[in-house]
Amino acid sequence: MPNNTALWLPAKRATALKVGPAPYTAPKAGEIVVRVHAVAVNPMDRLMQTVGDLITPYLAYPFVLGSDVAGEVVEIGEGVTRFRLGERVLGHAVGSDKARNHAAEGAFQTHAVLLAHMAAPMPEDMPFEAAAVLPLALSTAACGLFQQDQLALDPPSLAPRRNGKWVLIWGASTSVGCNAVQLAVAAGYQVVATASPANFDYVKSLGASLVFDYRSNSVVADIVAALRGHEVAGALAIGLGSATASVAILGQCQGKRFVAMATPPASFDAVPAGQGRIWRLAPVLMRMVAGSISLALKAQRRGVRTAMIWGSSLLGNEVGPMIYEAFLPEALASGRYVAAPAPLVVGHGLTHIVQALERQRRGVSACKLVVTL
Ligand SMILES: NC(=O)c1ccc[n+]([C@@H]2O[C@H](COP(=O)([O-])OP(=O)(O)OC[C@H]3O[C@@H](n4cnc5c(N)ncnc54)[C@H](OP(=O)(O)O)[C@@H]3O)[C@@H](O)[C@H]2O)c1
Repeated sequence: MPNNTALWLPAKRATALKVGPAPYTAPKAGEIVVRVHAVAVNPMDRLMQTVGDLITPYLAYPFVLGSDVAGEVVEIGEGVTRFRLGERVLGHAVGSDKARNHAAEGAFQTHAVLLAHMAAPMPEDMPFEAAAVLPLALSTAACGLFQQDQLALDPPSLAPRRNGKWVLIWGASTSVGCNAVQLAVAAGYQVVATASPANFDYVKSLGASLVFDYRSNSVVADIVAALRGHEVAGALAIGLGSATASVAILGQCQGKRFVAMATPPASFDAVPAGQGRIWRLAPVLMRMVAGSISLALKAQRRGVRTAMIWGSSLLGNEVGPMIYEAFLPEALASGRYVAAPAPLVVGHGLTHIVQALERQRRGVSACKLVVTL
């Protein structure tokens, strides 16, 4: 049995993550075990450490965080026929989802258990560090675009036919946005997006038809003007302030007035896990309540529906297999889908994940922080 080592979150709101031995967990039916070679870090990993008691109160500690895995299959559970031993795969590690709540399914360890239907083979020429940028961002975008309780768009395909409808992707240069643009285009929609001007060409290279600067004073009016005469199929709102702007835009458009939200109305980024927490947390919670009420009133006034995305909810519905089984393997192999944004490798070894998380907190632009293991 292989040795396993993990980066542990020892307890609720623990200030330090610790590297230590972890049990090797054999796969159950429908699961695989992967020797992890690269992981990426996400804002959610930091938040589960600092405000996990609020956003994932069910977690059983000690816990192993992390969602993004690329590695090689070392053991295959009963009933899994899509993978062979030694195969290079990427997958969304869903240990922190309420339905799993299982440290063995966290990404930040050398041997992680994955649900087979949340994993996909990697093209032979794709490095592990590139593949690791995909899973959580891809899943989050897919939940927002395709789930029946979100935008419920047509599924993505390898030979999409334009259906004449437009989707707004606010925050298209984020990791979630890079995937949302590609998925929406693969599903036959045209994309109007926002990003910083430095990332306009990048977002267009992923398939967006039009890109606007989200910091511009006239961005809402400019997008409304661009969409005049077109039918919209909804919006995916990513980044602080994105939902309010998206509601304002869709309220003036024809078509489906629905905003799928990846980001809540206030940021927990400044809340530490340890000392001084209460003083930082209280104003954030007040902004969260005020922001939610204000957004709900604006949405109601403009006839726009909104829903918050939970990026691993696809594990229990048709969207998980739609993405990881039916679409992604062929789309990556044919080059029609790319691993975006580009990886920036922070270091090698589990301890470097701590540095990657700290760097992530300071902000990135159109890149994903990755650690190789
Ligand atoms: N609900 C869920 O389950 C779930 C899952 C994953 C992520 N998320 C959330 O989704 C958001 C994006 O996560 P990520 O990992 O994709 O982020 P990321 O890649 O770290 O985001 C970096 C990008 O954010 C853009 N940005 C910064 N402020 C923005 C704003 N106010 N509006 C639009 N874009 C802005 C920057 O764009 P420029 O450089 O072009 O300015 C930068 O490229 C975060 O809020 C995260 O917490 C939610």
